[in-house]
Amino acid sequence: MEKKIILTGDRPTGKLHIGHYVGSLKNRVELQNSGDYETFIMIADMQALTDNARDPEKIRKSLTEVALDYLAVGIDPAKSTIFVQSQIPALSELTQHYSNLVSISRLRRNPTVKNEINQKDFGQSIPVGFATYPISQAADITAFKANVVPVGDDQEPMLEQTREIVRSFNNIYKQDILVEPTGYFPPKGQGRIPGLDGNAKMSKSLNNAIYLSDDEDTLQKKVMSMYTDPDHIHVEDPGKVEGNTVFTYLDIFDPDKAKVQELKDQYRQGGLGDVKIKRYLNEVLQAELKPIRDRRNEYAKDIPAIYDMLRKGSDYANTIANQTLKEVRDAIGINYFD
Ligand code: TRP
Repeated sequence: MEKKIILTGDRPTGKLHIGHYVGSLKNRVELQNSGDYETFIMIADMQALTDNARDPEKIRKSLTEVALDYLAVGIDPAKSTIFVQSQIPALSELTQHYSNLVSISRLRRNPTVKNEINQKDFGQSIPVGFATYPISQAADITAFKANVVPVGDDQEPMLEQTREIVRSFNNIYKQDILVEPTGYFPPKGQGRIPGLDGNAKMSKSLNNAIYLSDDEDTLQKKVMSMYTDPDHIHVEDPGKVEGNTVFTYLDIFDPDKAKVQELKDQYRQGGLGDVKIKRYLNEVLQAELKPIRDRRNEYAKDIPAIYDMLRKGSDYANTIANQTLKEVRDAIGINYFD
């Protein structure tokens, strides 16, 4: 049987944080290691440029940071193809063809883009490229005929939009060329991690993130500064566990569920101080992140090797995307000179 195909990726606008890790990187590594899939992982620099056109240097710098983060968590270039979106010209042409199949009102309804537009303060100047990036994301996914897309659950609307494009394309051109993808999401309650300040979203712009590349001291300082229960003032006071960031993190990261339950009970009763639970969380996180950080530092010693890996990945990705583009052009009937 032919292997199923995975395509996924991230926008390089900085280093990746543990929100990315629990939201999708962990799943990707697991799927890669299952051996059941051919995996493509794309650094989505074109998508990142849609709202950073005036700051390309930021994207350029983030390219190798994201690649290092991938290698650090265990994405293995011997098993997965890691490539760079801007190096695959077929994606841009596919985007152009698909844009004829999507209405402006449909794009405006995409809740992920809507949210992002609200957050980003574009005012009256929403870049066309930004507003239409779901179409380019459909090109990314379909160029590789991906069956499975492991991402955070905020990306579901992108997959819905992609499936609609696939159905319309196959329907209009009476072909079965494009493949409808399914999302692959983390287990319920495990895929979304709040920021250090308790904000529902961990993000660079909110300055509340723990990065995979943070060193031991930085990690510890961040953990000790975390939001807990603002009404838990004295050690003896009973504390709240719900909405307490330290416990939310423990639920996600600590494999010792019985221990977490014990700490929660104690905290609720009173007599367990914030410093203690933070110290404990620090140990749990250091244990999880140390091997990742060590591997990252190792790979970071040879940046030319990173570019080399990305070039090889992009060369291979081009052969696949060009083949799909040829089929798409054939279906539309614009390969006049073949
Ligand atoms: N939109 C994704 C993000 O927010 C990145 C991305 C671009 C992507 N193209 C993709 C993810 C294709 C999965 C599949 O970072």
